[in-house]
Amino acid sequence: MKKLLLLGLPLFALTACGAPTEEELAADLWEQIDGWESWDAAEGWPALSISDDGTHGDFVTIVVNDVEAGGGGDGAIIVKKGYEDAEGATAKDGVTVMWKTDQYESESGWFWAKYGDDGSVALSGDPDGCTGCHSSSADYQTYLETSPGSAEE
Ligand code: HEC
Repeated sequence: MKKLLLLGLPLFALTACGAPTEEELAADLWEQIDGWESWDAAEGWPALSISDDGTHGDFVTIVVNDVEAGGGGDGAIIVKKGYEDAEGATAKDGVTVMWKTDQYESESGWFWAKYGDDGSVALSGDPDGCTGCHSSSADYQTYLETSPGSAEE
């Protein structure tokens, strides 16, 4: 019993003081994007642009925080919301988010998250499900290399 306790303590200390877990980062990021609706639109992507490929919805709104708008780096956040129609009446559930943070080490250099409208985390971390497509773009930032699709698809 004593042995178990002694073994357990350092483990507890590690998790308590070590790098934040994916869950903690996802929760932190959800708070940081509170009010994203009033953030600036990403350059070249006015609200409710036609998506290049429709993955995140036929119409998308991409917004950036001040760090991303100022050239990126630690703390940069990009939020993307998908819609089924050009007026934004039919929103797809949740948002997808990219966050550049020194608190998280990843191959892509970003922390990725997909949330439901209620903040539930569908995906987070550095998942292939996100990086697979984005890896073809410089620094995984697809919006910088694509432009909104044309209306007559
Ligand atoms: C099938 C390909 C594909 C997958 C998979 C994908 N994306 Fe994207 N993503 C795109 C494209 C294309 C854009 C550019 C905007 C558009 O045309 O819709 C984009 C744009 C974005 C943006 C705006 C910033 C940028 O890089 O352009 C964010 C944020 C984003 N995606 C997050 C995610 C997250 C999080 C995941 C995983 C849950 C994910 N994406 C999975 C194709 C993909």
